[in-house]
Amino acid sequence: MFSFVYHTPTQMVFGRGSEEQTGALVKAQGCKKVLLHYGGGSAVRSGLLGRIKAALDQEEVAWIELGGVAPNPRLSLVYQGIELARREGVDFILAVGGGSVIDSAKAIAYGLAEEADVWELYDHVRRAGACLPVGVVLTIAAAGSEMSNSSVITKDEGGVKRGYNDDICRPKFAVMNPELTMTLPPYQTASGCVDILMHTMERYFTPNGTMELTDSIAEGLMRTVMKNAVILRDEPQNYNARAEMMWAGSLSHNGLTGCGSDGGDWACHGLEHEIGGMFDVTHGAGLAAVWGSWARYVYRDCMPRFVRFAVNVMGADGSGSDEEVALEGIQAMEDFYRTIHMPTCFSELGISPTQEQLETMAHMLHIACGGKKGAAKVLTEADFLKIYEDANH
Ligand code: NZQ
Ligand code: ZN
Repeated sequence: MFSFVYHTPTQMVFGRGSEEQTGALVKAQGCKKVLLHYGGGSAVRSGLLGRIKAALDQEEVAWIELGGVAPNPRLSLVYQGIELARREGVDFILAVGGGSVIDSAKAIAYGLAEEADVWELYDHVRRAGACLPVGVVLTIAAAGSEMSNSSVITKDEGGVKRGYNDDICRPKFAVMNPELTMTLPPYQTASGCVDILMHTMERYFTPNGTMELTDSIAEGLMRTVMKNAVILRDEPQNYNARAEMMWAGSLSHNGLTGCGSDGGDWACHGLEHEIGGMFDVTHGAGLAAVWGSWARYVYRDCMPRFVRFAVNVMGADGSGSDEEVALEGIQAMEDFYRTIHMPTCFSELGISPTQEQLETMAHMLHIACGGKKGAAKVLTEADFLKIYEDANH
């Protein structure tokens, strides 16, 4: 077990009707003017945005708005937001949406706090010195950005998708009404479930610094997500299943399921970020499409974890050799993905990269990670390419 710091400053306001408290929550931050940031229209169509505006008005909080955040949020809109917010004297960003809106809000908050180009953070040229406060009204259980220290932005030219992690961007509060996620298309619900699972799996598949309590929390979270993902496939309006998923999404990426470990593997996220940058796919679906190929490539180097995963998470009875049990667990996870209509290879994801594109993605990841990625097995550019090639059918 490694020493760790568990820093989760986000106030979670969870339950039916919780968005009604948004005005008071923002007012309590003592800010002068709020930038209301949202996506491509779902929050407008559902009436949520109107209710949030009314809640702010009721508390006499001044606000301006900037919508249009796309999934895989773009740097160009971040720049637009920084310019607008600076001109208007904004000192608080309220994200109404999912991971893309929250990440865009965090990027604007970084950009407002310092003069230097915000992309330098995502390019890992410098660390942030400051970040304006961000609040969240969450509409999709997925990325976990409402509690995470992470923000992922795509640079428009070249589709360069990069993350920057820093505790100073963790949101001040997150309003979490599971009912708000009931309007999600099934594909987004299922992609979100995969992303939530993956945030814990990334932390779980490491041989270094494992801890019994953390493992038990992680395994319980993964079983809960899989069970409720199937319920939501059949009953999208099931409040309890929506609530389980929403809470799992936050706990899966706030650091809890990694306490005591070396930080985890994260190769699948690295692999997906290149796919997302190049093909603009939905993040969770991209993860599902590459996971099986990754798992089969690395499991021999992390056998005890894959065996434990098979038995404690996927329900394998543990009979047979370690190799057989580990492979049974991998197969069971791929079967689960299919059960919720998620892809397990690139053609099912709807992309057909050329060999040159696979090589470009492998090389871009090599640059992004500084040559090495992974803990279950340490991977380099040649390994990235082999995993992409294996998934490319
Ligand atoms: O834009 P609108 O119209 O709102 O539509 C969105 C979008 O098309 C829609 N949606 C969201 N809530 C809805 C809804 N539609 C109907 N009803 C609702 N209640 O869903 C689509 C996806 O939204 P998005 O915000 O992109 O989803 P998600 O939360 O999965 O975020 C994905 C982004 O987060 C990044 C991903 O890479 C990706 O860019 N990640 C961020 C992380 C972080 N900051 O900690 C960690 C993750 O690993 C991930 O990399
Ligand atoms: Zn993710």
